[in-house]
Amino acid sequence: MQILSRSAVLLAAMHATIVVGFIGSTANAAGNERGIAQPQRWPQAHSQGLVEPQREARVTEMMARMSLEEKIAQTIQGDIGSITPEDLRSYPLGSILAGGSSPPLNSDERAPAQAWIDTARAFRAVSLEARPGHVPIPIMFGIDSVHGNNNVVGATLFPHNVGLGATRDPQLIFRIGRATAAETAATGADWAFGPTLTTPQDDRWGRAFEGYSESPDVVRSFAPQMVRGLQGEAASSGSLQNGLVAASAKHFVADGGTTQGIDQGDADIAEDALIRIHSAGYPPAIEAGVMTVMVSYSSWQGVKNHGNRSLITGVLKGRMGFEGFVVGDWNGHAQVPGCTEESCAAAYNAGVDMLMAPASWKGLYKNTLAQVKSGEIPQARIDDAVRRILRVKFKLGLFEAARPWEGKKNVLGAPEHRAIAREAVRKSLVLLKNNGNVLPIKGNARVLVAGSGADDIGQASGGWSLSWQGTGNKNSDFPNGESIYAGLAAAVERAGGKTELQVDGHFKTKPDVAVVVFGETPYAEMQGDLRTLEYQAGDKRDLALLQRLKSAGVPVVSVFLSGRPLWVNPELNASDAFVAAWLPGSEGGGVADVLIADASGKAKYDFTGKLAYSWPRSAAQTVLNVGQSDYQPLFAFGYGLNYGDRNTVAKLPEASGVAAGDWNIDKYFVRGRTLPPWQFSLRPQSGVLAMQIVDAAGVQEAGRQLVWNGSGTASLVVVGGASTIDLRRQTNADLSLLMNYRVDEKPTAPVHLALKSAGHVTTLDLTSQLQSAPVGEWRTLKVKLASFVDAGADMAKIEEPVAIGTGGKLRLTINVLRLESDPQGAIKLPAVK
Ligand code: BGC
Ligand code: BGC
Repeated sequence: MQILSRSAVLLAAMHATIVVGFIGSTANAAGNERGIAQPQRWPQAHSQGLVEPQREARVTEMMARMSLEEKIAQTIQGDIGSITPEDLRSYPLGSILAGGSSPPLNSDERAPAQAWIDTARAFRAVSLEARPGHVPIPIMFGIDSVHGNNNVVGATLFPHNVGLGATRDPQLIFRIGRATAAETAATGADWAFGPTLTTPQDDRWGRAFEGYSESPDVVRSFAPQMVRGLQGEAASSGSLQNGLVAASAKHFVADGGTTQGIDQGDADIAEDALIRIHSAGYPPAIEAGVMTVMVSYSSWQGVKNHGNRSLITGVLKGRMGFEGFVVGDWNGHAQVPGCTEESCAAAYNAGVDMLMAPASWKGLYKNTLAQVKSGEIPQARIDDAVRRILRVKFKLGLFEAARPWEGKKNVLGAPEHRAIAREAVRKSLVLLKNNGNVLPIKGNARVLVAGSGADDIGQASGGWSLSWQGTGNKNSDFPNGESIYAGLAAAVERAGGKTELQVDGHFKTKPDVAVVVFGETPYAEMQGDLRTLEYQAGDKRDLALLQRLKSAGVPVVSVFLSGRPLWVNPELNASDAFVAAWLPGSEGGGVADVLIADASGKAKYDFTGKLAYSWPRSAAQTVLNVGQSDYQPLFAFGYGLNYGDRNTVAKLPEASGVAAGDWNIDKYFVRGRTLPPWQFSLRPQSGVLAMQIVDAAGVQEAGRQLVWNGSGTASLVVVGGASTIDLRRQTNADLSLLMNYRVDEKPTAPVHLALKSAGHVTTLDLTSQLQSAPVGEWRTLKVKLASFVDAGADMAKIEEPVAIGTGGKLRLTINVLRLESDPQGAIKLPAVK
């Protein structure tokens, strides 16, 4: 190896990290150009433990041996659902990720840990192969370990961040980070896409649960602890190993500051708010040595962050002295004007070092290579990116024999990790109401346990749990977990009492008390965005259950599962005690630890949780944050009762303050009903196509039978009235249109599936699916939304999301039409020319 003097090495490093910086900004002196930050206004920080002379020398030496092609490949990350280990021979990418819906190789999302280990090994082996003209560089494997190693069956699932915020316990956050790192490394990944350092300001945002708090102070105090937990001590020289992983502070910046809480939207706020509220977690995370930062999909003042050089290069790498690498979000670069999934010089030039290009990595590689050759992306910019990536790989210990760590036994779901998770559950519970001191429950009582969330670990875990959306899970998918009911039953039985589980709340013998566990069902990202904060607007099923119990004279304890505070005044009124339990994860026993006392009534643990998000007084209080001028919460930031309190919550007003109705852009027809604003329309209205209500798949009146008589062309169309919907994010996330159907009589002519957007109808060919379907059998079809894009549709302005039509004869019964997030089995349909 070439020997460089210490100062030459440092100079090279400085050149790479700083000088490439902030050229060509168009910010004027007054700084009032929209979306252009003024770095000198931001807090200063500096990465610890990343730039070290010896390590930089190794990087320099390695880069000297790399071809331009190899360098570019280092800057690209593909998803294991769309790349094979063999692909790495021709395209030696720097990184792979497992997206939330991407299973390990040759397996599915609920595969055993070994499948993940085999996957990591298969990719790593190819990246390390000795081939002529190739510098072996280990691949870095990233995964969304955002509440434990949550993609892997058997892992400990910690409470989501919304619950952790309520603990106010930074030291606990550190221990959770340590356990998460160990479980993540044990199944072969090197890199956790967390912590999420968002400071959500509008609780309608579908990702509010990923944030610790609406308060920058809480985020600031947790950020370095999670980084230290995942990565180890920044200042320690040498590299990470023994069950530590790289962290990723995300999503830079103001992902939680978008207008109306729209996911991937625009934070139309002053720079001051960006700094004061939304950047709080970053300086301490950088000081703690965070190795990567992920850019937010969102924009600031109309400028997409992925293309914002003033923020990424000026603020993050310049002012905040960040010396690790910046990773883009899932095709986030494609949203920069002028870019596509496969081409985005602007993101590189803005300072993104590695682009997350799940399925688009190959095209991106080719275009980036051409852009560097043509000078559109300066060679120095690519060198800076590669230097940062290799620096992290060395620091992470990827080149060292003591790594990898995977395959270590008894780490996944280890008892000591589960104990930490259980402690976190206990500490995250916030007692909102305890009239008449119904809680704690005497251990020798007769306890009825009810509600959909009582015996459902999946519901308690929320999104990012085995699957991206956290849907489709059974308790058996959490072999090391315990449902809230199971925890209650164990505690009550230990103390000599009795429990009975009846999800719908019916009982034979009158119980002394009922614990009802209910709340939001799992969602992730844009799928969780709301229009108002009203819980179960228009369909107050859980309220009905609470009221039934109350009118039977049973004291009611509500345990509310949610990713954010919601307006639940009617449910609060119908409960004697009300516990905000957030999304506690797989250690449901933590709930019983606090709720169930011994036979004499002495509690084992008191409540200590304090609200980290203000609780709304009306469903319209969507932006409600401590410190704001007109701050009038129902329960303020910091509120939380304990057993010493003799506090009575009086009856609350039950007018929600908003017009009913959810933001329904993805459910058109379910359980026999079209959901507002959607309706069916037949075109033409009569003569060719008839529709009747029928029973479907064993459910009364759940289906619609459509009969085309062949005397002309006609369609069933889903119409929604006034406004258009934007399905671009859903398309990027690879959602599909799901139809449950039964062919009763085969088509005699081509059948079309269409959508209308921006005044234009895009038509796909559905004929062969219906032709080949066995008559009289229910089937599910998932058509990737991307098919419509391929056929030329503009997904931004959809007027009619679904139409089915034919000119021939056909008898078809349908009972579901909605969007679906699980890509398993989804297909693309060809366009009709
Ligand atoms: C999310 C990120 C996540 C990434 C990889 C994106 O859609 O915004 O938070 O880390 O996907 O799954
Ligand atoms: C998510 C990925 C997920 C994908 C679904 C993305 O937006 O963040 O992790 O797997 O959509 O296809």
